[in-house]
Order: sequence, then structure tokens, then C-alpha cells
Amino acid sequence: MTKLGRQLGIGPTDNTSDQRTPRKRLRLIPAAARESFVPYLPARVLSRQNEWDMTRISPDLTRADGIPIEVTGTVRTESGRPLRNTLLEIWNANHYGRYRHVEDHSGLKLDDRFLGMGRVLTDDDGNYRFWTISPGAYLARPDIGRWRPKHIHLSVSGGSARLVTQMYFPDEPNNATDPMAILMGDAFERNIGKPYDTPGIDVEKGFRFNIVVGGRNATFFE
Ligand SMILES: [Fe+2]
Repeated sequence: MTKLGRQLGIGPTDNTSDQRTPRKRLRLIPAAARESFVPYLPARVLSRQNEWDMTRISPDLTRADGIPIEVTGTVRTESGRPLRNTLLEIWNANHYGRYRHVEDHSGLKLDDRFLGMGRVLTDDDGNYRFWTISPGAYLARPDIGRWRPKHIHLSVSGGSARLVTQMYFPDEPNNATDPMAILMGDAFERNIGKPYDTPGIDVEKGFRFNIVVGGRNATFFE
């Protein structure tokens, strides 16, 4: 197959990145078209109470298996301006490395007390916070024995734009061989949550993950 004008390198063992990589140079849709064709619904009407705490399905139920953690951060523009009322959608595998999803054929254990999805909004200063269960790593490619290190998927929506990224964890054995981490190169460091202690709140550990949606120091988006 001829590969004209490829924009991205391809991870060495990712057999889907080839199909997902644009074959032609991307062109920006004119601003007038972006604004006129996209329905705009304020993000605050979408999220419900308690979605910030993914460690339990509802406040009256017991917690899911595994280690409860907090993730906090600030969402900013390229120039450092905080983005308020920005919708973050979060999903991660359960303690055993299993997603509650029809396409997860791993056979790993499902946890009835873990949904694995949540939504939060940034506040007036661009800050967000949620709790979840520390995800298990999972064997993404049994055919070649390739694991995905622990990670949390995050989607950031504002206006008509949606960006999707992943937060990694420090010092994980499979970070170095992860195809997405390899694509990120030096920028990988920015996609690793920075650990902090959480005295006085009901989680074991916190991770700081600041998101920048553009510019030289942007978070790596898929
Ligand atoms: Fe994943």
C-alpha cells in the first residue's frame, strides 16, 4: 500500500494505528462552518450528582474492589487560561483490568460494584476532581503478549470540540513498551499523573493530571 503524506509515526506493535492514521494532510474546517453546524448544549446539564465518585455506583452502595484513588487537575488553554464548565468524561478498567464493555473479551473478572464511567465539570478556575478505582493493567494483545499499563481514559469537551487522552501512572513496568507512550516520545511525561498523599480523605492516593488543550506544552491527545 502506498502511504502518502502520513502525519504520524506508527507504534511498533499497534496493528490498528495504521488504519487510524490520516493519509492526507488535515485541513481545518472554516470557522463559520464549525459554528453553524454544531449543536451546542451547555455541559453542566449533562452531568449528574455523584458521577465524580466512580468508586461506588451510588452513595448508598458499598465500594468496588481495589484501591480507591483521587485524580485532580486543571484544564487550560495554550495560553494558560483556565477552562471553566468543561465536561470531562472518564472511563477506566476495574481492579482486575476488565472494562464493562461488549468489546472486552478478556474474560477477566467483572465487578458488580464498578461501572467504570463518570463525568465531571471544571469549576470557575478550571479545576476538576474525581475518585475512581486504580485500574488494573490488561493484556491488550494476547497474540504477542503485549500489556497495556494502568491508564485512565479522559475525554475533554468544550464548545464544539472533543479531545481524548489517557492518564498514565508513574513507574509502571509496561509504560516503556506501550505503543501510545512510544508515539508521545518526550511528551509522555506530561501524561503521567503526579502522585500526592491524601490525608483526611477516603482514598489511598492522589494523582495530579493537568491538561493543556493546545500549544507546545499540550497534553498528548489521540
Ligand atoms: Fe484502556
